[in-house]
Amino acid sequence: MIILSIETSCDETAISVIRASGPITSPKFKVLGNALYSQVKIHEQYGGVFPNIAKREHQKNFIPLLKEALGEAGFLKQTTDNKLPTRGIQKILERETELLGEFLKFIPTIEKPPIDAIAVTFGPGLEPALWVGINGAKALGKIWNIPIVPIDHMEGHIVSALLSKNLKPKTKNFFKYPVLALLISGGHTELVLSKKILEYKTIGKTRDDAIGEAYDKVARMLGLPYPGGPEISKLAEKKRISGYKKEKWNLPRPMIHTHDYDFSFSGLKTAVLYRIREHGKLKTKDKEEIAFEFEKAVTEILIHKTKKAVEQYKPKSLIVGGGVIANTHIRKSITKMSEEFKGLALHIPTRELATDNSVMIGIAGYLRIKKFPKLLKSRKKIVAKGNATLG
Ligand code: KG4
Ligand code: ZN
Repeated sequence: MIILSIETSCDETAISVIRASGPITSPKFKVLGNALYSQVKIHEQYGGVFPNIAKREHQKNFIPLLKEALGEAGFLKQTTDNKLPTRGIQKILERETELLGEFLKFIPTIEKPPIDAIAVTFGPGLEPALWVGINGAKALGKIWNIPIVPIDHMEGHIVSALLSKNLKPKTKNFFKYPVLALLISGGHTELVLSKKILEYKTIGKTRDDAIGEAYDKVARMLGLPYPGGPEISKLAEKKRISGYKKEKWNLPRPMIHTHDYDFSFSGLKTAVLYRIREHGKLKTKDKEEIAFEFEKAVTEILIHKTKKAVEQYKPKSLIVGGGVIANTHIRKSITKMSEEFKGLALHIPTRELATDNSVMIGIAGYLRIKKFPKLLKSRKKIVAKGNATLG
C-alpha cells in the first residue's frame, strides 16, 4: 500500500510518500519520497510561532513539497488531459486561496499517482495551520479519488520510533506492550500509556507551558536566539564539562512531588525571570550557570515523573519523542534511568524523526488502516482539532 502523508500542525510543512506492507505487529515501511520545509527562520524574528503566518507559509509550501515528494518517489508524470472538478476544489479550498491558485495551476498537469490513501494530521496543533493540511488532503482526495485518514500528531510521534537511521524500519524491534511514551517538544509535554497498539491513555501532561516552550522563553530572557533549546543546551553543556555543580540560582522544580503525572514549567520560567531581575545585568558566566541549572531542573522533573510512571505501569517499552529529545543531557539521563529497569526497552527516534515530520504520519496512517480497514470507506468529516488528546 502506498500512502501520501501530510503534516502541517505547527511550523513544519511536510509531505511524504511511503510504501507500507505486512501485518500490524511486524509492518514494513519504505520511505519513497520525503519533503520538509521548516518555517523556523520566519518565526525566529517574532520569537515564536504565529498561527496565521504558519498558515500562510503552509499554503505557500504545499505544492512545492508535494512536487518534491512525488518526484522523489518517481510519481511525477506529465499529462495534458487531466480535467479538474474546479468548482468542488474551489469550495474545499475557499479559505486557502493562496493554495487554491497553486493547486489549480499544478495538479491538472500531472497524472494521478499510484497512491492508495492520504494520511493527514488533524490535531493537536494550531488550527489555522492544521486546516491547510486537511483541506489540501481533501482537495487531492477529491481529484484523485483517494480516501483520507485523519491522524493524531501525537500518535505520529509515538510510532516514529518504529524507524531507525536512514528511515529504515526496525523490523525485529517492534514495540513490546505496554508502551509508555514521553513526548517532549515545543508544543507538548505528555506521558501517554498504551496497553495495546493504537490505544492510548494520556496519564499526564503539562498544565501550562510545554518543555520546549520553557526552553525557548528562558533563552529569550538570556538574550539567546530562537529556538532557544539548542542554545541553552550548549551553554549548559559548557558548564557541565567545567565541572560546575552548584545551585546558585536556586530554581524550583514545580510539581515534581505531586501524586500525578502532570507537569508545570511556567513557575520555573517565572523563577528564572525573577532571579534575573534581582541580579541585574547578566555576564556570560551568569548565563551559563542559569542555563545549566535550568536544564538540571527540567531534567529532574522529567526523570522523576517518568520513572514513577514506569514503576507504576511497568511498561516493556519506553518511547521518547519530540524535538527536545535532541538534548544530550536529557537523552543521557533518560537512557540511564531506563537501564535501571530490567526488561524495559528504550526507543528514541532519530533526530530527523523525533522532530515534526510527515513520515511518522504515514506510518500511523498505515497502522490505523490495518487495524480499522473501514477507515478507507469512512465518510466522516475531517475537522481540525487544535486540542486533540490521545485516548
Ligand atoms: O518537536 P519540535 O521540532 O517541534 C514542536 O514543537 O512540535 O520541537 C521544537 C522544540 C523547541 O522548543 C526547541 O527549542 C526544542 O524543541 N529543542 C531543544 C533542543 N533542540 C530542540 N530543547 C532542548 N535542547 C535541545 N538540544
Ligand atoms: Zn510535534
